[in-house]
Amino acid sequence: MTHPAHDAETLRERALTTLLAARDRTTLLTSCVEEPDLTAQHSPLMSPLVWDLAHIGSQEELWLLRAVAGQEAIRPEIDSLYDAFEHPRAERPKLPLLSPEEARRYAAEVRGRALDVLAGAAFRGTRLTEAGFAFGMIAQHEQQHDETMLITHQLRRGPRALTAPDPEPAPLFTGPAEVLVPGGPFTMGTSSEPWALDNERPAHRREVAAFHIDTTPVTNAAYQAFIDDGGYRDPRWWTADGWDHVRRASLTAPLFWHRDGGQWLRRRFGATEVVPPDEPVLHVCWYEADAYARWAGRRLPTEAEWEKAARHDPATGGSARYPWGDADPGPEHANLGQRHLRPAPAGSYPAGESPLGVRQLIGDVWEWTASDFLPYPGFRAFPYKEYSEVFFGPGHKVLRGGSFAVDAVACRGTFRNWDLPVRRQIFAGFRTARSAVAG
Ligand code: AVJ
Ligand code: FE
Repeated sequence: MTHPAHDAETLRERALTTLLAARDRTTLLTSCVEEPDLTAQHSPLMSPLVWDLAHIGSQEELWLLRAVAGQEAIRPEIDSLYDAFEHPRAERPKLPLLSPEEARRYAAEVRGRALDVLAGAAFRGTRLTEAGFAFGMIAQHEQQHDETMLITHQLRRGPRALTAPDPEPAPLFTGPAEVLVPGGPFTMGTSSEPWALDNERPAHRREVAAFHIDTTPVTNAAYQAFIDDGGYRDPRWWTADGWDHVRRASLTAPLFWHRDGGQWLRRRFGATEVVPPDEPVLHVCWYEADAYARWAGRRLPTEAEWEKAARHDPATGGSARYPWGDADPGPEHANLGQRHLRPAPAGSYPAGESPLGVRQLIGDVWEWTASDFLPYPGFRAFPYKEYSEVFFGPGHKVLRGGSFAVDAVACRGTFRNWDLPVRRQIFAGFRTARSAVAG
């Protein structure tokens, strides 16, 4: 496996570009609405946008200024306000948060100092600075909160604040509906990707039996067939917990959908539109994805199956960084980075397909997998337990591949995301799989 060059000037340049790109996106997301929309709580599931903004600065201060450079706290009295574990999201609007103006000034002050630290960084000596890890981790953290803020924008009521060009229209995908992934071991996770986070490590061999996986994510049209067939009213398709949830929460369709006469409409970033049939379905929870798969006579892929489909090259036996190989993502490979405000039609990005021909594994929609979020053999929390370790266990399901709202720096074949099985506000869809019949 190859990986990016390690010389100091290349790393410095890469860290700088990545940090600046994240801040540009943060600025866009926090300047496209007026002040009341920054301090309001648009959903109890989300923080006010101004909390994310100051939290981004706070994490950057903690890791780049205090941990890497040994600096004193800039404003020690605000630390606990922006500690995600001290205050649940629903309570954050009531805290004495920094105003939008103060939050901007604080984040800018931290950033100015962080760029000075970067200018003099040696990129070795400690695990935190080796290959620029801390800078990469902080750029990923900011981009993750940018995706979180985009979710808040999607939940926000009111007129459209963000615009972006639509993806290229694609001809209806007419290739094979599924791909056979041969059985045998493959390398899961990574020990060599410099900015991979703790839960992606270490690389290890996994035995995965032969299975078939959908060539593309499940589309809105396919999902509508499940709805039309009474899928939400039929306990046969749901796990016990899922059936309990679907009735308690009165789920009848993906979040943001509503029925108007004969057709399904959806709300997307302040506009209402007809649900596009050929686009991957979005805003379904794990229970809905799991129920759809059972209705279709299939199942969700396990996390190991997903990663094998995305990274295993049967010609070499090795695992690549991405489905298309080791090259960093370009616009021809995947729909990433909020370049568009929606997934691209199923079957898009042929240049991004895996060696076996599986498409859109990276970008478009996060994909629910069957698996609980668990540590790999040999896992070690780094640099803090609250990133991954405290979330390990059966309560959280793994999502893979990244959405249109994730930036390339926080998305790769090994990247692991997770959430509760009831969550639907995230940019999540899924694809299905089935075991290959033996013999
Ligand atoms: C990996 C997306 C589940 O948003 O809770 C941000 C990322 N961790 N700040 C989250 C994260 C700390 C995390 N997810
Ligand atoms: Fe965070």
